[in-house]
Amino acid sequence: MHRGGAMRRIRIKDLKPGYMLALPINLPRTGVALLKEGVELTQRHIAYLRQYGLQEEFCFIFDGSEQRQPSLEDRVILQHFRADILRSIENMELQNTLVSTYIALEDLADRIKSNSALVLQPVQKVSEKLMRQVLEHNDVMLQLAALKAIHEYTFCHSVNVAIYVVSFGKFLGLREGTLQQLALAGLLHDLGKLSIPAEILDKPGRLTAEEFKQVKGHTYEGYRRLAEKTGVGNDVLQAVLMHHERFDGSGYLLGLQGQKIHPWARMLAIVDIYDALTSRRCYREAVLPHETVDYLMALSTQGALDFKMLSVYLRHMPVYPGGLKVTLSTGEKGAVVETTPGLPLRPVVEVSSLAGGKQPGKGAPAEPVSIKRKRVDLAANPTVFITSIDAR
Ligand SMILES: [Fe+2]
Ligand SMILES: [Fe+2]
Repeated sequence: MHRGGAMRRIRIKDLKPGYMLALPINLPRTGVALLKEGVELTQRHIAYLRQYGLQEEFCFIFDGSEQRQPSLEDRVILQHFRADILRSIENMELQNTLVSTYIALEDLADRIKSNSALVLQPVQKVSEKLMRQVLEHNDVMLQLAALKAIHEYTFCHSVNVAIYVVSFGKFLGLREGTLQQLALAGLLHDLGKLSIPAEILDKPGRLTAEEFKQVKGHTYEGYRRLAEKTGVGNDVLQAVLMHHERFDGSGYLLGLQGQKIHPWARMLAIVDIYDALTSRRCYREAVLPHETVDYLMALSTQGALDFKMLSVYLRHMPVYPGGLKVTLSTGEKGAVVETTPGLPLRPVVEVSSLAGGKQPGKGAPAEPVSIKRKRVDLAANPTVFITSIDAR
């Protein structure tokens, strides 16, 4: 593909990664330049044009520029980031970090599938970036938590676990170096699952004994793959190996108990369950956050989780993130606008309802319809509770 060849007219909605623009694309009315001529489009450019509502408009590409194979980045954005997902992450740096994290994970998955040697530098690099995002922006978890109420994508779990575990480490006062290693452990904790066929992982029904054994083996499989590489710290290895051990010895694979389980593995166990429950799965809807809290508490009362750690985690977790649309037990619908410090289950919800619009008597003008908004502070209204999460 080269500049100066024949051009072709095409609708913006039909653009594909790899096409090269023969003329710039400007915003229709204002003429503001969005993309310059000569740009080789990536999926991100295409999502960007859609954000501006451009679909049916025409643009010009160079003929023959459409044969390029999509790059790994294009593939990742195409598969995991729909335009609406990208748009809902307002922080550009977080958006970029998430894209590079997915690229690193996709690359790992490719290598495992093709049986080639693992290269860990990219994932080590992104674990550092993810940690920075969590330390610098308090809303990282909130943005992700709101997203996952409606979207589920392949690596979402590993990225969530990494972000949650870094936040958790921050609450526990751990140093930056440790937090970065924790992020890495979070990203890699389920690495062993990449060797398990998707039909088993996503199977809606009961697993056979053999399948279950294979799933359980993901802890050791991940550990084994990582232990072969130099430069993976012992703490990360232990955390990956032990993340399904339970405090009372009821976990797998080794059946370790209490302090014998590496502290990072105990942290991972908590955030792993938290994320698994609050994400929508192919076989069930996401569990409501407060039900997850109840579930985690029950597990800890039975002795399966480290109670001290769990209490720190639950004190700081944003259970209902800002912007989340919910239905209240009164039947009213609204969005979470504030969280109450110390009372994560009782946020402030702004509900809106239609007012007016009644048909008056003959001859009188119709009452105008208006939207009435009111704030419901759940901390001050203990009998009202959230019954469902709608979307963002
Ligand atoms: Fe796991
Ligand atoms: Fe996991």
